[in-house]
Amino acid sequence: MALEKTDGASYQKILIYVILTVIFIRLFVSLYQWLKPRAMAWFLTKFAHSSNEAVGQIKSNVFASMKQIQKENGELVVLEIGAGTGANFNFFPESSKVLALEPNIHCVKYLQESASATSHVQLLNIIDGSIEDISAEVKDGSVDAVVGTYVLCSVNNTEAAMNEIKRVLKPNGKYYFVEHVRDEYYNSWTHIGQRLMHPIMKVLADCDCAKSTWTFIDRAGFKAVDYRQGEGSEKFPFFLRPHIYGCATK
Ligand SMILES: C[S@@+](CC[C@H](N)C(=O)[O-])C[C@H]1O[C@@H](n2cnc3c(N)ncnc32)[C@H](O)[C@@H]1O
Repeated sequence: MALEKTDGASYQKILIYVILTVIFIRLFVSLYQWLKPRAMAWFLTKFAHSSNEAVGQIKSNVFASMKQIQKENGELVVLEIGAGTGANFNFFPESSKVLALEPNIHCVKYLQESASATSHVQLLNIIDGSIEDISAEVKDGSVDAVVGTYVLCSVNNTEAAMNEIKRVLKPNGKYYFVEHVRDEYYNSWTHIGQRLMHPIMKVLADCDCAKSTWTFIDRAGFKAVDYRQGEGSEKFPFFLRPHIYGCATK
């Protein structure tokens, strides 16, 4: 009898532990889901400042031909994908009209603040969505340029993203990009470091820091693709230094 009582008590204890563990995991996941987009939006305001200091010159060079498009087309409508907190608005030509695509709603107030601070740019709309499918929000052949900086590392379906970018661009429209990518040499120390950092970056920032992003741009079927592959800036952590930057023409 005494043995049965002890067994019953142990089962009860185990059950209580299991219930408490499930409750703890549920609470932890909910906290993570609540905190992550807010923390990301806050972090991006800091990142915007430091990345513009680090790669501002690269951005200026990459975006330089926007003025020519504006001259030829009479206006410049830019779709910025993963606009974050509006780090790139400063680099767009006078009177640019910007559609900012951003799935993190906690970035919206920062985007509005950036737009107010860069009055030479007109923020047409902030679109809550993902670049994989914006067919309901942006018409075929309706924008002069698409801009994306440090976005493709977070995009799940990069082929779909490329198709959408091509779809929304006008003929001869340009897709401008600055992206951190996988080190071009397999098994280099940088690439090994990127593979080690991959799970941490995925959990913290939805970022694949070992992505061969250039292969998606190369294969997307643009009329012309022109980019450089090299180090973005020494100011970035080593696993985020390999970059590609340039533009593709529809
Ligand atoms: C590292 S941040 C870069 C933000 C900004 N472009 C910059 O350079 O500061 C990546 C941004 O892409 C957004 N993003 C993630 N997945 C996306 C998707 N599938 N489509 C569009 N934007 C996405 C994130 O919400 C985030 O704001």
